[in-house]
Amino acid sequence: MEAAVLSGLVLALALALPSVALENGLARTPPMGWMSWERFRCNVDCQADPRNCISEQLFFEMADRLAEDGWRELGYEYINLDDCWAAKQRDAAGQLVPDPKRFPRGIKALADYVHARGLKLGIYGDLGIFTCGGYPGTMLENVKQDAQTFAAWGVDMLKLDGCYSSAEEQAKGYPEMARALNATGRPIVYSCSWPAYQGGLPPKVNYTILAEICNLWRNYDDIEDSWDSVLSIVDWFFTNQDVLQPAAGPGHWNDPDMLIIGNFGLSYEQSRSQMALWTVMAAPLLMSTDLRTISPGAKEILQNRLMIQINQDPLGIQGRRIVKEKYDIEVFVRPLAQAASALVFFSRRTDMPFRYTTSLAKLHFPEDAVYEVQDVYVGKIIGDLKAADNFSVVINPSGVVMWYLRRTALPVQPWHVVRQQAPGGGYRPALL
Ligand code: GLA
Repeated sequence: MEAAVLSGLVLALALALPSVALENGLARTPPMGWMSWERFRCNVDCQADPRNCISEQLFFEMADRLAEDGWRELGYEYINLDDCWAAKQRDAAGQLVPDPKRFPRGIKALADYVHARGLKLGIYGDLGIFTCGGYPGTMLENVKQDAQTFAAWGVDMLKLDGCYSSAEEQAKGYPEMARALNATGRPIVYSCSWPAYQGGLPPKVNYTILAEICNLWRNYDDIEDSWDSVLSIVDWFFTNQDVLQPAAGPGHWNDPDMLIIGNFGLSYEQSRSQMALWTVMAAPLLMSTDLRTISPGAKEILQNRLMIQINQDPLGIQGRRIVKEKYDIEVFVRPLAQAASALVFFSRRTDMPFRYTTSLAKLHFPEDAVYEVQDVYVGKIIGDLKAADNFSVVINPSGVVMWYLRRTALPVQPWHVVRQQAPGGGYRPALL
């Protein structure tokens, strides 16, 4: 079939479906937790690599780390199995079963272990003949049964991938799984890879429908352990922000894929950039790294309280890129509750730290407003920054400066009063 005809058909199918209005009350803020895929992939050789293979042991150990190393308290509550957990065949009753050697106690026992530590369990399935890794998929006729199996095991989140299925099967299967999950009565966050398999953009992808079906969705390519990969994702998401940004909100999020901070591909500056840019995108914070051996530097980035507060802002408004300078500096803004906002100054430069001078007025903040600014990574606070004031930030190559801004209730003080209060100080330009 011609591609155009096919996409028309898919669209018609999607539009013909009754709205299932997911509104399951879940994921009111972007989900946070840990997911096995990017770091541990489909390593099933437990004989050669018992510590890193996809086995219940790996998940028990990561659950311990989430519970004991301060992650859970910060909101990192999901621990998610990705591909390659299943046995190669369904059982005699047609039910999915975990690999008996690698998950001898079964998924229910894993869920119990995770729940006992105040965490939640996510699982992976694939709408299609096989998962992307070649394990049994969920065909249309398996949708109900698999939803019931996951619920009976005590699963709290499902990532439903889309390898080995047609566009027509996806247009039918993704909404069907939403209905099947709701019908189990168990609250299960539903992550759909559907748009990623349809190019991520209209007319093939209808984000209005998607938001009624799924709590989050993968729009684009898989993240890999490299800065190039992070940049390609950032480029795609912000190039298409006019389509993607309005689609996100409480209960329904764009998912630019896992955080790779703590692995091998990103420098310190690049790790800070991924965290800041994912936060400005209101993205799920699903880490994929070895929490048993993570460095203090990576941990500090992932455990930054103000960053997490911004990511989890109750308004759930996704941010936008508002400036793209010819000289490789970009500025992003995310509006937050209580008239606060987050600004990210990002450098794509590869030469040296760059001094960027601008003003809040130039960044479209209201002319007469005054702000208290906190540097999200450095912690430093600037008292009263007027929208008209010029300020400079120094941004490292492939790094960010991130600001949290609150409008101050104080009336604007004339310049000489500020001078009297801080003799010799002055705050223009503010340099962080
Ligand atoms: C796809 C998904 C990845 C991961 C793998 C597993 O590529 O996009 O996130 O789940 O499948 O095989």
